[in-house]
Amino acid sequence: MKNILPTPLQYKKNSLTFDGIALDKIAKKHSTPFYLYSKKTLDLYYKTFFKAAVTHEIPSPLVCYAVKANSNSEVLGHLNKLGSGADVVSIGELKKALKAGIDPQKIVFSGVAKTASEILFALKCSKRGIYSFNVESIEELELINQIALKEKRIARVAFRLNPQVNAKTHKHISTGNKTHKFGLLKSDIIEALAVPSFWTHTTLVGLSIHIGSQLTDLKATVSAIKELSTLALGIDIPLEFLDVGGGLGIDYTQAERAKLASIDTYMKTVSEALHKYYYSKTEHTPRIVFEPGRILVGKMGVLVSSVVRTKTSDNCHFTIIDAGMNDLIRPALYEAHHDVLPATKSAKLIITDIVGPICETSDCFGTKRKLPSLKAGELVVIDNAGAYGHTMASHYNERKIANEIFL
Ligand code: LLP
Repeated sequence: MKNILPTPLQYKKNSLTFDGIALDKIAKKHSTPFYLYSKKTLDLYYKTFFKAAVTHEIPSPLVCYAVKANSNSEVLGHLNKLGSGADVVSIGELKKALKAGIDPQKIVFSGVAKTASEILFALKCSKRGIYSFNVESIEELELINQIALKEKRIARVAFRLNPQVNAKTHKHISTGNKTHKFGLLKSDIIEALAVPSFWTHTTLVGLSIHIGSQLTDLKATVSAIKELSTLALGIDIPLEFLDVGGGLGIDYTQAERAKLASIDTYMKTVSEALHKYYYSKTEHTPRIVFEPGRILVGKMGVLVSSVVRTKTSDNCHFTIIDAGMNDLIRPALYEAHHDVLPATKSAKLIITDIVGPICETSDCFGTKRKLPSLKAGELVVIDNAGAYGHTMASHYNERKIANEIFL
């Protein structure tokens, strides 16, 4: 289904605007490359996501925004104002979420490598600690129990189930199969529940799944919810929540636009699966936790860059820009597509590769793209860069991390 929510970019009389303001005007005040974010769009995506959960009768939905997608303080602050919680995977993310005012009782902590000091901090960050440690191994559960014992506290934990499904997405970001490092197999969870020494200072409050990112097809999501439900029904512990993870994709390409599930379709699918496999079989109504990242922030951001120069090698044409793979690594890492748009449209187009300054051939934002013949200093915009852009940036080649500008 088509994703019909508006996005910040629009051409007006051949000039690119962002939230109605001419890009040239915005770029005059900032040096390129920089990330540009639209609060309006963030607001719209969060509200649409939450509203869809309510519309589709998801019990007491809690959105725990996946901070890894974009950890900008204003993004976190705004999401906090809208009522969002956070899904964090490090002490750094946890501290940022707390600083933005997010209630620890709305924070879940995922990740396979939580260290003793991270666990201690999360346990002590409020009277009740965080909402849940989403546990990914028995060894982690034992450590949490030991730390909680020392601190004379009870840690709230959820098991992340590895539902053994194959989410159709890039292999680097598919996480729901037993060959992946994430989560625990059902049999291991059941075994762990029967070991009293793991539970002296921990209490099981939920179960979670997260099967992958940039999901366009929801079949694996339904299968995973079925597995989650079967486990929840089987363990006979009154759970406070079921966490269905994140993963809903956005449309980076026309092809994805055609096949992508909308927020509404996603929510309807999740709700139907939960009702069919879980709620219809029990009186119990745990709340549902979501961990969306990309769907909330992907569309609100772009990377603005200037052309440094152009170059030709025989019949190859390169538009060399001042943003590189250190600013946005997705094309280099996942061969991900991002549209590259000129600030000024022209009817006359050439075929060109858009490349950055980094000394790797993978530092390329697109090959054989149709763009106007651009001159040094002209602006281009790399679209859909709000998620996993700035958070994955690096200093490679001793480059500065691009600034983030919030409109
Ligand atoms: N929950 C957990 C436990 C996760 O590991 C992730 C993402 C999310 C939620 C949020 O997933 P989302 O709704 O954003 O798909 N760097 C990659 C994406 C990596 C996703 C990692 N985990 C990319 O640029 O495509």
